[in-house]
Amino acid sequence: MARRGRAKPPDGKDFQPERGPDPGERRAYHGAVEPLNRKRLTQLAAVERASYHERHPESRALHEAADHLVARVPMTWMGKWAGGFPLGFATARGATLTDLDGHELIDFALGDTGAMAGHSPDALVAALADRVGRRGGVTTMLPNEDAEWVGAELARRFGVAKWSFTLSATDANRWVLRLARLITGRPKVLVFSHSYHGTVDESFVVVEDGRARSRPGNVGPAVDPTTTTRVVEFNDLDALGAALAHRDVAAVLAEPALTNVGIVLAQPGYLEGVRQICDETETLLIFDETHTFSAGPGGATRRFGLRPDALTIGKSLGGGVPCGAYGLSEELAARLDVALAGGADIQDVGGVGGTLAGNAMSLAAMRAVLGEVLTDDAFAAMERRATLFARGVGDAIARHGLAWSVSQLGARCEYRFAFPAPTSGGQSAASADALLEEYLHLYGVNRGVLLTPFHNMALMCPATSDAHVGVHTELFDQAVAALRD
Ligand SMILES: Cc1ncc(COP(=O)(O)O)c(C=O)c1O
Repeated sequence: MARRGRAKPPDGKDFQPERGPDPGERRAYHGAVEPLNRKRLTQLAAVERASYHERHPESRALHEAADHLVARVPMTWMGKWAGGFPLGFATARGATLTDLDGHELIDFALGDTGAMAGHSPDALVAALADRVGRRGGVTTMLPNEDAEWVGAELARRFGVAKWSFTLSATDANRWVLRLARLITGRPKVLVFSHSYHGTVDESFVVVEDGRARSRPGNVGPAVDPTTTTRVVEFNDLDALGAALAHRDVAAVLAEPALTNVGIVLAQPGYLEGVRQICDETETLLIFDETHTFSAGPGGATRRFGLRPDALTIGKSLGGGVPCGAYGLSEELAARLDVALAGGADIQDVGGVGGTLAGNAMSLAAMRAVLGEVLTDDAFAAMERRATLFARGVGDAIARHGLAWSVSQLGARCEYRFAFPAPTSGGQSAASADALLEEYLHLYGVNRGVLLTPFHNMALMCPATSDAHVGVHTELFDQAVAALRD
């Protein structure tokens, strides 16, 4: 349910930047409070659902014929799209894709960030053709020159010295947590409530009624994660200080802004405070930049001048080719060397590493994407478009008198059904509204615009144009106006 009436907003006409350590670059917009007509929303959602079914017979047939797939989809998350079945996908290039029924859609979901470089950018296609086709070799368990190039480029961008590669952001997090426990000799991890860091066992905890508990829906946990993990709300330095005072936490695993429960931005001074408490309690600080990479060429780490001990990333790094990476500061890498002398094994079956990780194909992809696609210039253009997107949404929220907010982190925007913009995962989770989300998603899909299946995230890629953003702005305004009629 949307939270209403918690604070009285100003008249809602003007955009109000939410002040942070870098105020001009992180924004939240808001409108005035006026409750929604739920009955009308229910009717409109039903109309959009019917239209979705009618417009997508081929997608529906694909889904119904998928008798040999768990949950009728290639990967169970794909069951999350609004409408009862996902679009069947035919082609994708740049910022658009086509579905099996021949509709072209502007893609603001971009594979939930995996395709932030855009679909099949030319540099990636050429690099793969050269590596896999002309020279040959997808995976060999042997190094080549691309690895040091990518490591050096990641070090330049994020200011973190030593890198190793994985096949996913999940694995980057998993492995770096093992290393953190090894190095510190401490057993626990700390995460923020309602964060998501991939399928990392230790991270499936939330705060509820002031107490840690296993996240609702946690699938077959091996152990109760409250025994491995401390959890506090984001933007609460007192709670973090109290949790780390036990000095049994090896590392805080954090996104610099929460991005998996809407975007929850750090309040002024918060990230600096996190660093300070970690220093005081000798706790390692790992920033997961998998989504916050949207903040710029060196992610939120560079943009906000952060100093993590380790950094993890995945998804968009290889343009969608499976890959991920973790980086260690010079100091942490030196501590790792010392710790390894105790006998832990990172060269074989000790729990860090994977057969296909660091393979030649994913390294060629990362080199192409970092070198030629997700460049400084590309990020600047992506952010300009995201600002345009946020303004369009913010304007409509204000014009139609809704108690909603929109937040932006570089190339990424997201609107929440809450005002003011939530400052913790718990607040943001409480503002979710499944029916409203379904209605807005289907309204877009039925008219050629795709948002992520997860909440209301929209991401810009280098090929996203002002015109693409304009289409969303117009549709969003219409969808909201229909709710108000
Ligand atoms: C912040 C963050 N870290 C890690 C992951 C895991 O990424 P993957 O599923 O590609 O391993 C995700 C996935 O959504 C994420 O949002």
